[in-house]
Amino acid sequence: MPRVAHSTRIVAAWLHQKDNMAKPLPPAYEDALLLLDADHKLVKKMFIEYTGLVEDDGPAAARQQLALKICQDIAVHAQIEEEIFYPAVRDALGDDGLIDHAEQEHAQAKEKIAQIQAMRGADAKMDAAVKELAALIDEHVLEEREQVFLQAQYADLDLRGMVPQLVERKKQLQAEAGPLKEPTKKATRAKQEAA
Ligand SMILES: [Fe+2]
Ligand SMILES: [Fe+2]
Repeated sequence: MPRVAHSTRIVAAWLHQKDNMAKPLPPAYEDALLLLDADHKLVKKMFIEYTGLVEDDGPAAARQQLALKICQDIAVHAQIEEEIFYPAVRDALGDDGLIDHAEQEHAQAKEKIAQIQAMRGADAKMDAAVKELAALIDEHVLEEREQVFLQAQYADLDLRGMVPQLVERKKQLQAEAGPLKEPTKKATRAKQEAA
């Protein structure tokens, strides 16, 4: 291979790489609906994981930690919907009933979340409460997808423009909530003693 052609290719590859590096990263989500639905999918995955832990008689500390993570993620998701997404949809659709109903479902979920967060450790009561929360969220997500998201898709809404706002608020809320505490030594010891 002629030396010149070889070095030209190297330079071309370098320029290509440099060009790609200079480009801003594409947004993680194309629009608000994809961002919100990614949260739904993640929460669903965690509920399935929780069920697996219960079925396998997994450690109480792991169950508690996962339950608290589920609660925190749902709370943040509900808040960004209530602060940013729902008001925009309410305005665009002029359908108060639809959004009022969604907010009532959020309120129900928040009650269940408060119960779970007040529990001292993972036991049958917590497992039952997580199961109830999963059922509430399943129903809510189904309605949200089939009604709110579907109508929002065809409404006069800047769903793309909403993404940075949602991402920013989500980051803020996650930072405010702080990292979840590691399972307490007491909870771990109790599990070891029970085993
Ligand atoms: Fe949602
Ligand atoms: Fe929602």
